[in-house]
Amino acid sequence: MHNRRAALAAMATTASLALALTACGQNGSGGSKEDKGSAKGGTIGIAMPTKSSERWIADGNNVVKNLKAKGYKTKLVYGEDDPDTQVSQIENLITQGVKGLIVAAIDNKSLNNVLQEAADAHIPVIAYDRLILGTKNVDYYASFDNTKVGELQANYIVDKLGLKNGKGPFNIELFAGSNDDNNTKYFFGGAMSVLKPYIDSKKLVVRSGQTALNQVTTLRWDGATAQKRMDDILTSSYKSQRVDAVLSPYDGISIGVLSSLKSDGYGSKSKPLPVITGQDAELASVKSIIAGEQTQTVYKDTRKLAEVASTMVDDVLNGKKPQVNDTKTYDNGSKVVPAYLLQPVSVDKSNYEDVLVKGGYYTDAQLK
Ligand code: GAL
Repeated sequence: MHNRRAALAAMATTASLALALTACGQNGSGGSKEDKGSAKGGTIGIAMPTKSSERWIADGNNVVKNLKAKGYKTKLVYGEDDPDTQVSQIENLITQGVKGLIVAAIDNKSLNNVLQEAADAHIPVIAYDRLILGTKNVDYYASFDNTKVGELQANYIVDKLGLKNGKGPFNIELFAGSNDDNNTKYFFGGAMSVLKPYIDSKKLVVRSGQTALNQVTTLRWDGATAQKRMDDILTSSYKSQRVDAVLSPYDGISIGVLSSLKSDGYGSKSKPLPVITGQDAELASVKSIIAGEQTQTVYKDTRKLAEVASTMVDDVLNGKKPQVNDTKTYDNGSKVVPAYLLQPVSVDKSNYEDVLVKGGYYTDAQLK
């Protein structure tokens, strides 16, 4: 740790020296455009999990935009949800001499060896949205309040069903994210802190009986996997009953669950779709919300997340302490990783226009 700090400090000195030199060049003679780019700090490697979900494409593009504006070059790679691919991509980035790494892990425990290589090369690492576990070699964490995401989803279900007004009992089924994503337990924990009292008092009934996290996870957040699980649940537990709500942690899963429900005849007057939550405000889900199918999503502004992560890496490379607002929650097994957590926002048909369109995330035309 000590050596690492010294190395970071040395790097910071080099970075400030380079900045000073650039400044001289700009004031005097000889400051070419190329000088400016390289003096600012070289290339940052960005490793994202998959292009199969829109949000990560937006995240990647937004990080690139932010870093370019700060004078860096960038190398952006996508691991296509395969942990081994992500490891070799990060290895390549290190070999190519990147000055910093921003990583959204596919499998939170598969990166220990490669991040040791990064540390040996004095490359600072920012964990992007998903915490990387079991290694000291992660410097900062940029994410959202992940517990709150789950609370927003569950509170939405509670409100929509009128549980606080004594209504019920209702049938609910629970879905969680990938078990190798550290966020999964925060989302599910947040949601269950709200739902459990109603489950205990039998105002919410989980007819499948699947309420433990390890019974409800969805490997790699895959919509088709969730669809298959929902098919099985409908066949085994809902022959003569209706499901009234589905806790879904992510839009891709919500869309899978909706396909299953629709094939089972849900979506008519006599058999309405259940309340179904989501996360990420992906285009397909916002359209589904407008069409009255998915009920809610949790919006996380990836533009802001990209800005936080880019500023973190820039600060570290310039010997500045990045701004954090949480130094307690995110223990990765080796250390508590200092984090900056942004606020998620619940979105449904009533506020998507205000939040997503007026907020500039989508245009009206995109939502048509
Ligand atoms: C999580 C992330 C969610 C969602 C999910 C699936 O790590 O926090 O917002 O994107 O991955 O991609």
